[in-house]
Amino acid sequence: MKQEHYQFSFDVYDSIDELSEADAWLLREAQEVTELAYAPYSNFHVGAVAKLINGEIVAGSNQENASYPVGLCAERVLLGSLSSLYPKVPVESIAISYQNKTLVSDHPIAPCGICRQSLQEYESRTQRAIRLILGGMEGKIYIIPSASMLLPFTFSSNDLK
Ligand code: THU
Repeated sequence: MKQEHYQFSFDVYDSIDELSEADAWLLREAQEVTELAYAPYSNFHVGAVAKLINGEIVAGSNQENASYPVGLCAERVLLGSLSSLYPKVPVESIAISYQNKTLVSDHPIAPCGICRQSLQEYESRTQRAIRLILGGMEGKIYIIPSASMLLPFTFSSNDLK
């Protein structure tokens, strides 16, 4: 028997003022895009904005439904849009923010498990790591070098071969 270890490093910033101009801009866009969410059931409004390697910017927000499981997270709305608008163009970074109409938005949130799976496959398809910039409307910000780091032991297309 031997033990293996899984670990990764990420950067923690105390506030948006510490980010590079480009990262701060992308995170502010994600904060603004929370306004486009359709989230009457959870009141949890998520905005995700991608910068592609060709410089294009694409936004997504969560879109809920009275039949709750039909709803889509901001991250997968975003991936569907950018993949349709700019097929096969790798993504450099995605900023994700949120506002909860009843609670304060003061810490980063990370993509849910299903979105991690989608993000991982997009990285794999385009052969490029997607940086994640995670932050609320205020407070600390996490920068994660590659979305796949959030999903060890991924089930992937390789397993189907
Ligand atoms: N949600 C996202 O859009 N992204 C996440 O990373 C976490 C959760 C959405 C799904 C649902 O519309 C609402 O937030 C509450 O779970």
